[in-house]
Formats: sequence, C-alpha cells, structure tokens
Amino acid sequence: STDPLVVFTPSGKRGHFPKGTPVLTAARQLGVDLDSVCGGRGICSKCQITPSYGEFSKHGVTVANDALSEWNSVEQRYDDKRGLKKGRRLGCQAQVMGDVVIDVPAESQVHKQVVRKRAEARDIVMNPSTRLYYVEVEEPDMHEPSGDLERLVRALKEQWQLEGVRADLHILHMMQPALRKGDWKVTVAIHHGDDTHAPKIMHIWPGYYEGTIYGLAVDLGSTTIAAHLCDLASGEVVASSGIMNPQIRFGEDLMSRVSYSMMNKDGATEMTRAVRDGMNALFVQIAAEAEIDRTLIVDAVFVCNPVMHHLFLGVDPFELGQAPFALATSSSLQLRAVELDLEIHPGARIYILPCIAGHVGADAAAVALSEAPDKSEDLVLVVDVGTNAEILLGNKDKVLACSSPTGPAFEGAQISSGQRAAPGAIERVEINPETKVARFKVIGCDLWSDDEEFEAQTGATGITGICGSGIIEMVAEMRIHGILDGPGLIGSPEQTGTDRCFRDGRTYSYMVWDGSADGGPVITVTNRDIREIQMAKAALYSGARLLMDKFGVDKVDRIVLAGAFGAHISPKHAMVLGMIPDAPLEKVTSAGNAAGTGARIALLNTEARTEIEQTVHNIHKIETAIEPRFQEHFVNASNIPNAVEPFPILGT
Ligand code: FES
Repeated sequence: STDPLVVFTPSGKRGHFPKGTPVLTAARQLGVDLDSVCGGRGICSKCQITPSYGEFSKHGVTVANDALSEWNSVEQRYDDKRGLKKGRRLGCQAQVMGDVVIDVPAESQVHKQVVRKRAEARDIVMNPSTRLYYVEVEEPDMHEPSGDLERLVRALKEQWQLEGVRADLHILHMMQPALRKGDWKVTVAIHHGDDTHAPKIMHIWPGYYEGTIYGLAVDLGSTTIAAHLCDLASGEVVASSGIMNPQIRFGEDLMSRVSYSMMNKDGATEMTRAVRDGMNALFVQIAAEAEIDRTLIVDAVFVCNPVMHHLFLGVDPFELGQAPFALATSSSLQLRAVELDLEIHPGARIYILPCIAGHVGADAAAVALSEAPDKSEDLVLVVDVGTNAEILLGNKDKVLACSSPTGPAFEGAQISSGQRAAPGAIERVEINPETKVARFKVIGCDLWSDDEEFEAQTGATGITGICGSGIIEMVAEMRIHGILDGPGLIGSPEQTGTDRCFRDGRTYSYMVWDGSADGGPVITVTNRDIREIQMAKAALYSGARLLMDKFGVDKVDRIVLAGAFGAHISPKHAMVLGMIPDAPLEKVTSAGNAAGTGARIALLNTEARTEIEQTVHNIHKIETAIEPRFQEHFVNASNIPNAVEPFPILGT
C-alpha cells in the first residue's frame, strides 16, 4: 500500500490510512483507546496525543519533524482558552500526512490505569459505567414532526453508535430547556451496563459540559460507614470521609441489632431509617469537602455484611439471626438512589455487590475483588478481621469462604481495659525480658511510654485503655516473656519473677500502667481478658484451619490481613498468639481496607462487577456451624499459640 503507515504507542496497534486522515479516526478504526467527549469537534481536548515521529498536517499544510507540535487554529484557540501542553496535539485536529508514530498519553485513554500502592494487589483499570457524550441534535421541524427525545436518541446513535438509548421521566423534565439553551448542542451523561443493557440518559447539560461527574464507593460497616468520592473520568479519589454508623444506638454488634428488630415492632424500619439518614449526612459531608454539588454523584457502589445489607435495603434481618441463615437475596443489586432515599442525583445508579453466604457478605465479595485470590498462583489466605471474621482461602484453581464468630474482643469490647481504636488507646506493646515491665505506645503520641517526655505529651490521663491491636500484642508479649503459660493462665509473682503480676480474686492479673497516684487510669490485663482473646483467636484460627482441611493443605503460601483492624495487627504477634496459621512472617501482609478498595474497583470498572458476580458464584461456601472439624479445631486452638501445629517458623 502507498498509504502512510500509522503506528500507535504504547499499544503497538498499526495500519495504513490515506493522507489527511485525522489521528482520532485512525485510532478508532484500529481500536486504539483514545478518549473523546465531543466526538472530534475540537471542544473537549480529551483526545490529546503526542506526535513522536513523522509528518502531520496543520491547516492542510504539512509540517516537518521539528515542528511536530505546531497547532492549527482550533488547537490555538483551545490553548488560548484553557492551555494545551507543548508537544501535544488534539487527535481530532492533527492529520496523518506520512508514516507516523503517535503516542497516546495515559490521561487520554478511557481505560487508563489508576495507580495503587501495593504491589501484590490488582490494578484498577478505568471502565466506568457512566460517561459523558457531547451531541448536536436536529432542530424540530413542523414538516417532519418528531419528539425532542427521539431526535436526541437518533443523534446519539449517529454520532456515538449508541443503540437503543432510553431515558427516565426526570430527563424529560430537564431536556427541552437544555436543548434550547444549548442551541441544540448538549452534553449527556449516559449509564451503561444496567441489567436491561440499554444505555440510559442520566443527565443533560446545555452545550459542552466542562465539569466532571462523580461516583461513590461506600463501605457500610456495623461500626463505621466510610466513603470515597471518585472522579468518574480520571478515577481519582477526590475526597474520603467516614461517620459512625448511627445504628449503634440499637446495639453494638450485629446480633444485638438483629434481636432489636425481633423485639421491637418497627425495629428494622427504625434501623433502616437511621442508616439511610447517616448515609445522607455522610454524603453532605463528603460533597462539602470536595466542594461539589451532590447531584453530580451519578453512581454509587455499596459493600456491607449481610445484616447491614438487609437493613440498608429495608429488609428485616430476622432470618439471618437463626439457622439456616437464609439471605433474602445473594445476588448483586442494581437500584436507583430514590429507592433507597439517598440524596444524590435522583437517577443515580446504585450497585450492591453480591453476598457470598448468610454470614459472608458483599464486603467479603469486595475483599475477593480487591485481593483476587482466584487469580493468585500461590495459595493465599485472606482474613478480614471484625466481630465476624470473614475468611477466604484459594488460588486460581478454587476459592473457599467461611465466616467465624470471633466476637467483639478484637475491637476491644469485653476486655476489662478495652476500648475502640481512638486517641489514648494502647496500640503497641513491648515487655522487657528482665523487668517484665510493659512499655507501650498510645494512639496519637509518637513516643514510647518509657520516654521521659511521654507523660508530658500524653498526660497521665492521656492513656484511656487498650485497643484491639494493643491487646493482641500485649497477650503475645506476655506469652513470649513467660508471664502467661500455654493454656492461658497468668502466673504468680513467684512463677513470673515480677510483682507486676498480682492476685486478683482466684486468678492473677498483670499491671500494665498504674496512674492512680496522679489520679490517672489503672490499666491491667485480667485472666478473663486472656480468656476472651483465646476464644476470639481460636475462632479465627479454626475458621482458617477448616478451610485448609477442605482444600487439603496444611500450609498456605501467604496471608493477607484485611480490614481497618487488620492493617494495625503486627503479624509476628498475631502468629505468637496463634490467630493465624503458621507462615513465613514476610509472607504476612496487610491490605488495609480491602473491602473499600473492592467497592472502588466495582465503581470504576463495570466489567469488574460481572467478574465478581462470577467469582462469588464459583466460591465454595463452608458453613462453620455445621462442621464438626470446626469444633475440634476450636478446642485445640485455645492454647497460646495452640496445640494444633508446632509453629516451626516461630521456633516454639
Ligand atoms: Fe474533543 Fe478532540 S475529540 S477535542
């Protein structure tokens, strides 16, 4: 062929095109990912490219290599108005005049990658469900009567190849003024990927809409509700915010909320109202932080445990409180904001991830999406630690899931000096091997407690209690330094060689901090506290171990600790305690809020939604309540570390 050769980088896609072909046209024909909102009219600047080699036109005049980035009048005008980087051209304006190499920068790709910080986690590739399109619509004509919507739909088909576009009633309310105000040019937000598969018009702006549209990724937990506000074009998180779940006033943990709904007429309805009100308050807060109008939020993804899921949807969670723990639905849900009383864009699309089982919710599905055990070559154990631990074990061949009733001890509840993770809570602990005295760090202060400045910085009353990660380190350190024996009994001063251990009723307790002389707090660890931690860690370990039995393995290659709490656990101490199975310490990592990340992936990439629906369908669900092996493991696992495996890696 004598037509010039066009090569795109980084995709490597190539083809021959007649002289004068706009770069955007060549890109489209080759399936190169080059963005455009205005359809090549030189308005949106989304189509920016970098000419790397060859001849391109400018006003139909060929420019040489050294002037590759010279602009035509449209680009010049764009540069004057909004600025165009040197070396860049608009793909819809630059024409191919000879053999060329064209680079498509990341920000001009629709399916760009959103940067993540962890090497072992999956990447987020943009493929949002809602996108903007600029269209020019035919004016009405008395000789050929047709509705404005029909002409708009036809324009979308002709200019954007969008078939069967539909609109809800609220669009008819805003469409006619927008068309006229924009002189028959409008920007529409279109939602793709509804279960009807029909593209839906979400919103209309007159003329070219300069702004962006937003989506929310929400992790609805029993204690806190956390949300990320994302720019649906760039994938960037523009604001993050969280509030306490207002349902706490009906019960601290899940089961107490289920019983509230059983004991009180309209109890479930009250809790539904509370969580939706809380959600709206959070949306006001996050929109204010990002300085945007809430109605620009057109898409939202929610992840939550099954009880939160039902209460958010307005379904009585009664059935989840008793065997056989039947969910109202385990499928993913596509809803509209108005159906859930959410005050964002009235037509905003809501997606709720599927639940895995009666105790393993959409939050665990989100963790599976983020950590992708189903794509892993190694056998990975993923543990989301909460009042109910949700556990996944698998690799690319198969994935198993279960939940284990750890109870609230890891959140500091039911521990004598326990508290939630908040300023003043002990979170790091080291016990001196000789003196057996604990030194520690509290949240909100960088110093260790044996630092001279410590009391000045926190004040004796600045220590308020021990949070979950603190109690884990405390108990593990007590075991390492012989204050605690394998079965979990605190020794006497004679046995341990320290009067930090003191008689407390029929058992011994351990003095962590005695601030009583200054009217400050007295922080101790009692044998009952140890018992609570033993139960919680035995439940967690037994769940993991049960999945390993089912998988037919007695070792895992790596362990991922997920959840806000998981992020703060020290892998070494967790292993000394026997919370998690034995594994090389460097193979134990923390994934932070993996459920929140999973929600963000589902928000930014529509295909990930189909993918997780399939993954959840394929996950083997194990119900711990009916597995005799779970009980066996549980009994054996209460020792510290435990009586099940020798923990060769820790050398105990
Ligand atoms: Fe919009 Fe080129 S496609 S400016």
